Amino acid sequence: MRLAVMASGRGSNLQAIIDAIEAGQLPAQLVCVVSDRPEAYALERARRHGIEALAVPARDLPDRQAHHDRIAELLDQRGVELVALAGYLRLVPPRFVARYRWRLMNIHPSLLPAFPGLRAQEQALAYGVKVSGCTVHFVDEGMDSGPIILQRAVPVLDDDTPERLAARILEEEHRLYPEAIRLYAQGRLRVVGRRVHILPAPEPAG
Ligand code: GRF
Repeated sequence: MRLAVMASGRGSNLQAIIDAIEAGQLPAQLVCVVSDRPEAYALERARRHGIEALAVPARDLPDRQAHHDRIAELLDQRGVELVALAGYLRLVPPRFVARYRWRLMNIHPSLLPAFPGLRAQEQALAYGVKVSGCTVHFVDEGMDSGPIILQRAVPVLDDDTPERLAARILEEEHRLYPEAIRLYAQGRLRVVGRRVHILPAPEPAG
């Protein structure tokens, strides 16, 4: 399964995906990492692992649509089947979503539909929830609103700061994202309306 990751920042989720692939736990080939920020550490991580690192800054293109058309062209040239957004800070336009319908995933640091958008961990603390967590979902035209693939709960502690909660959620993210991508690679995800059904693993032969 030919995978691409799109990231704008430090890329710790990207690193978790690379590690899972290198450990033989994720049957995927990471063909490229795309970033809108040439200085993103995610691109450096890609290069260190011999993965093609593509910087596609928005300023080189007239608008959001053209920017993502350019990215789609690069992905299609490389035969990418699944695109994983991992800390990609731009909203992808509807044409990009449609082109990769149910082939585009995102990870978000809350239990959606609670706390979509930016600074989800801060939102969770401000609201006073006792449990937060992370969600991997398919991307649709809305903001963090697509069909949910996997979720994991993380307790919120009395002395949490946004940073501490974020760090605890991040540890779970690093397990959850490779797991969701593995299910996709194994052909075990079916989108049925708003729900994602997870098919059972095939019985081992013999
Ligand atoms: C993660 O918290 C992810 O859930 C959110 O952005 C952050 C990216 O972190 N979408 P990293 O770049 O993978 O370290």
